[in-house]
Amino acid sequence: MAELNKLNKIIKPIKDDLVLFKDHFAFALKSDVKLINVISDYLIKSNGKGIRPIVMIFVSKLCGKTTKNTYKAAAMVELLHLATLIHDDVVDKSEKRRGFPTIHKIWGNKTAVIMGDFILSQVLKNLISLRDFEALDLISSTAKRLSSGEMLQIEGSIKKTMTEKKYIKMIKDKTASLMSTSTKLGAITAYAEDEFKKASFEFGENLGIAFQIKDDLLDILGSSYKTGKDTNADVTSSMITLPMIYVLEKEISSNSKSLINKALSKKASKKQIIDLKKIISEEGGINYAENKLKYYTKLAISCLDVMPNNEYKNSLIEIANYNVIRNR
Ligand code: IPE
Ligand code: IPE
Ligand code: MG
Ligand code: MG
Repeated sequence: MAELNKLNKIIKPIKDDLVLFKDHFAFALKSDVKLINVISDYLIKSNGKGIRPIVMIFVSKLCGKTTKNTYKAAAMVELLHLATLIHDDVVDKSEKRRGFPTIHKIWGNKTAVIMGDFILSQVLKNLISLRDFEALDLISSTAKRLSSGEMLQIEGSIKKTMTEKKYIKMIKDKTASLMSTSTKLGAITAYAEDEFKKASFEFGENLGIAFQIKDDLLDILGSSYKTGKDTNADVTSSMITLPMIYVLEKEISSNSKSLINKALSKKASKKQIIDLKKIISEEGGINYAENKLKYYTKLAISCLDVMPNNEYKNSLIEIANYNVIRNR
């Protein structure tokens, strides 16, 4: 719990801003279709960490001012994230999200896919209300990067191969793109100068890479009770993440190799998955990924060097460091 309190402490300075963001967010989930409202209520009740709106609001303050467009854009980004998660859970056949059964688990795949589409269409509909071409361009190209990244991952799981280079490209698209969009929108909606927009984007992109590396580590090391999601989901569905990539590129015993292949072909038992995790750790895969996590965190923080030194910059640095230690 200490770690959750840490995030709550970090976001104290923007508590009121988050209320305004939530109003826009919840409003977009309303409809005159009863089933949509039932699912929307369920989604609002089981909210996530809200990292993307949080970094957007902090960047806007760091750049000078939070505007009405900041709250609107924050709602759009969180909606885009939510739609991706609902679709991702169908694709990954995940049973649990944010501590609750997933949408498709309760209402079925058809309803989950259409609910995701409904949320995406609300983003589209609200885009124009920003009356900002740069923001519009950024959000729409991000929607493309998100699905490209997910597709790249599916390609990797079918071929059962992955290199570090491809992995980074994939996580940049599927995760970092939305993080950098959030941070850059913080600058855009604060009408910041180009240098700040660029720095915000770079900060978000590196933070996003670190964020997904951490998510992948939590899939192996975390407890489902804390993450609120299924664990071991990646290895049991042929998704090759950084710790495993490192081990696959090493000289390892033929026993270990065959266990990895078994897992990638979805033929490993529960006990074998536990053994596999041990091997990944003993061969240094966890350590390697943790070092990369720290590397991208440092890189992210260094991107803020050109920005003014104030409490909001400190909050962004704290968020980057929080990501390293989070367990949900
Ligand atoms: C989960 O994102 C999916 C990834 C991109 C790693 P979050 O960890 O931000 O999920 P919530 O919104 O807090 O549930
Ligand atoms: C998905 O990555 C990231 C998205 C853009 C949805 P994961 O599949 O690892 O996300 P989780 O672990 O299900 O949240
Ligand atoms: Mg998933
Ligand atoms: Mg994951």
